[in-house]
Amino acid sequence: MCSSKQYWESRFDGLNPENYDFSQSKPLTELVDFCHKHLHPGETVLDLACGGGRNSHFLAESGYQVYGVDFSESAIEFCRKRFSRFSLPGVFKVGSMDHIPFPDRSFGAVFCIAAIDHVRYEAAQKAIGEMRRVLKPEKLMLLTFDPLDTDQDIADQAELLDDRSLNFIKGEHRGLIFHPYIDNEIRTLVGNDNITVFEYLEDGSRLVVSR
Ligand SMILES: C[S@@+](CC[C@H](N)C(=O)[O-])C[C@H]1O[C@@H](n2cnc3c(N)ncnc32)[C@H](O)[C@@H]1O
Repeated sequence: MCSSKQYWESRFDGLNPENYDFSQSKPLTELVDFCHKHLHPGETVLDLACGGGRNSHFLAESGYQVYGVDFSESAIEFCRKRFSRFSLPGVFKVGSMDHIPFPDRSFGAVFCIAAIDHVRYEAAQKAIGEMRRVLKPEKLMLLTFDPLDTDQDIADQAELLDDRSLNFIKGEHRGLIFHPYIDNEIRTLVGNDNITVFEYLEDGSRLVVSR
């Protein structure tokens, strides 16, 4: 049995930021636009499920106070070494998106890019509540959801769970969870009344900005 955590650990394990080629590690373009539009200089921001830190890196270089959380210890270790290599300030913590390890009202923005559809539906519901808890009043979260057809070609390597999540039990994605959200499900999950932006990106991902 391979868990989702083991799957993500294996993606970052053994990668060395000291000699890693970061030239392809670019932030999500729409996150850059969001920052220009909504953030004050020096704002405190959370990159939730930060992975290898491509968005955190941009945010720190842009002068925001960056906090990163991921449940993969190897991803967090990678980000710490990455920030050290580029002499960037930032705080990285191991933690799960459904129990964010920060107090209420800590952040001026929360980003959760390409990650909330990699947990089961119930955990995603908790994660949305947690993001709202750690946001300062009136501040925004930015989320993306992968295209519906992501991993469709290897869907036969997954079992369908009772909440409609795919659990990969074979092949190189063994352990991966992917919940293919239809648009209405995203609206239900996040709360339609809270959503200020819902748009399709070039690759078919859905971007949501929400209170
Ligand atoms: C596709 S990567 C995206 C990484 C990053 N946000 C980016 O845009 O490059 C998904 C990330 O979600 C993290 N993740 C998955 N489930 C998580 C959970 N329950 N809590 C925190 N992080 C989680 C994984 O470890 C992985 O780093």
